Order: sequence, then C-alpha cells, then structure tokens
Amino acid sequence: MNATTDVFPLIQRPKPIRVPDVMEESLDERERAALIRRIKRLLVEQDAKLVAHYYTAQELQELADATGGYVSDSLDMAQFGHDCPNSTLVVAGVRFMGETAKILNPEKRVLMPEMEATCSLDLGCPADMFNAFCDQHPAHTVVVYANTSAAVKARADWVVTSGIALDIVRYLDQRGEKILWAPDRHLGSYIQRETGADMLLWDGACVVHDAFKAEALSQMRVEHPDAMVLVHPESPAEVIAQADTVGSTTALIKAARELPARKFIVATDRGIFHKMQQAAPGKIFMEAPTGGKGATCVSCAHCPWMAMNSLRKLAQVLETGDNEILIDEAVRAQAVKPIQRLLNFAKQRNQVVLGNNDA
Ligand code: 13P
Ligand code: SF4
Repeated sequence: MNATTDVFPLIQRPKPIRVPDVMEESLDERERAALIRRIKRLLVEQDAKLVAHYYTAQELQELADATGGYVSDSLDMAQFGHDCPNSTLVVAGVRFMGETAKILNPEKRVLMPEMEATCSLDLGCPADMFNAFCDQHPAHTVVVYANTSAAVKARADWVVTSGIALDIVRYLDQRGEKILWAPDRHLGSYIQRETGADMLLWDGACVVHDAFKAEALSQMRVEHPDAMVLVHPESPAEVIAQADTVGSTTALIKAARELPARKFIVATDRGIFHKMQQAAPGKIFMEAPTGGKGATCVSCAHCPWMAMNSLRKLAQVLETGDNEILIDEAVRAQAVKPIQRLLNFAKQRNQVVLGNNDA
C-alpha cells in the first residue's frame, strides 16, 4: 500500500491550551432536590428540552432522561434537537455540541449552561490556521471531526463522528481521494491504519484520551486477566492496540452490554460509566490508567470542560435566557453542508451512526 500519513508540521503552532481544573458541583440533598424541581418547572415554562452528553454529571443525564430530553453522543444530540418539537434546546456538553445543534436547528433557541465549556480539539484548531493549512493542500478532500468550531466545519467537505469516520474515509479512499484530516491526530492515524488511506493529519489531541498510558494499561490487564478493554479512538495507538473494542461512546456502551466479560477497563471519560452501568447492570467498570503508579495526569479520565455543566448553571440559564448560541448565518449556511453530507451518507447506507438513548 502506497498510502502516506503525515502529521502536519505546524510552522505556527496554536497557543498552548490552558486546561482548567475539574470542578464538580457540591450540593447537599435539600439543595439538589430544590434545584431539580426548579429546573423541571422551568423546562416546561420555557418549552425547552435538556440534551446531555454521556460525559456530563450523572444527575444531568438523569434529569434529561426524566424530562423527556436526551442523553447521547454529539451528533445524535443535534439530531434529537432537530426532531423534537420544542422551541428551546439546552445543551449540557461542550461548545461545539451547542454549535452543531444550532447549525442543524437555526430556528430554535439553543442555550448552554456554561459558555466556557470547550474542547482541546476545538481550541487546538483555530479557523485562521486551519484555513491556511487547507490553502496549502488544495487537492485534498477536507474531512473534519465534529469536535471543531462552526468556522472550521464551514471549510470542510465532510464532517465525521467517531462512529462513521472509518466508513467515510474508506469510501473517499476508494474514490482515489487524498484526505486532509483535522484535528485529532490519534483518531486520524487510527483511521489511516485501518483504511490505508492517504491522509495528512492536523496535530491536535484530546487532553483526556491523550493521557491514557499504554504501559500502565498492560500492567492493569495482568492484574485483571478476566477484564476486557474498551477504548475510544482519540487514545494513543499503543492504547488502542490493547483494545477488545475500539469505538465511539455509543459503540463502547453497546460493547459493554454485549461482550461476554463481567469486568471492563475503559479508556474514555468516566462520565460514560453511568450509561454503561444502566446498559449492563451487574458488570464492573474500571478507569484505564492515566499515569503509572504515583504519576500525575492532566485530566484523570474526566473532561474538565464537560464537568463545568452543573444543575445550578442549568437553572440559571433557563431563568435568564443567558448563554444563547448564535452563529453568523453565512458561516452556518456553509457549515451545515458537510454535516448534511454525513447524515445523507449514513442514511444511504442505512447505518445507525448516531448513538441512541440506550445505545
Ligand atoms: P462522541 O461524539 O463519540 O460522543 O465523542 C465526543 C467526544 O468529545 C469524545 O471525547
Ligand atoms: Fe474534547 Fe476530549 Fe473533552 Fe471530548 S473529552 S470534549 S474530545 S477535551
């Protein structure tokens, strides 16, 4: 196979990413119950639905489920928003998820509990630098991961999620297209290894998945020989190499339910354990190691930006209408095209790429 993979030698690097500390909300039982009552009332008054990602706090996921909202992966959250009749969507997740919901549902009001909740992949791929990269490689088909800004999506030919990236790249490769991929280099090189496609990679990483350590994982597997390993493909290649299942958040929940093991080592954000436990009651889920014994880690298997979502902030945005996602119409009109291409591709293949509430 003649395919090549190059990680773009960034002449001008994006600014170093400042990763906030993980701040979990602390509430006593009385406060929590009062906030939940208030949010339930506000959701009805505001004709709103709560759409939450698998990585958010358990109580947000429970509240979404209990109020007819939705818990899933990023693009499926947007799909749900499109299909539900409510005029307001409150997206508990990170910025690009709120933006994708708005791109697909411009007529709806999209609110987010926390506007500062972003993603290291999005931060590490500024639109001006990405446009310069694309300009240097005009013969390449531009494929971007959903974890990007609206402006980066607007420059893309295709948007993909981890659930369908392999199929789309394989299809493009079969058509003889060379691919410019952004922003996650681990996901990009995993797809390149699997498909043999000719890919030029942007040099971005997820701070959570990049921190999983292969050596410590091998040691953990020795200590738990009966455990199976579930890995999100934003993880380093040496971690992916040890996986029994590699896949999107939805695919990992499905694997937790269907695989025969009782014990799993999971290399993704630990927020997913809530849905895994629901999908596979009685099974045991352990975090994959983010450092050797005594080592420190940046994220420790929990996304600091996902953790910014809280019941207090949710109640506040519903009350004030603050934190509305607004996107320039020219950018939105461009960004919706590669997302629509992804949705059409999935539909044609009759493939469920977008998770669902019970994976
Ligand atoms: P999914 O769209 O598969 O849920 O992944 C989003 C994400 O941010 C993974 O880190
Ligand atoms: Fe971004 Fe990683 Fe957080 Fe997902 S887990 S939102 S990829 S920083």
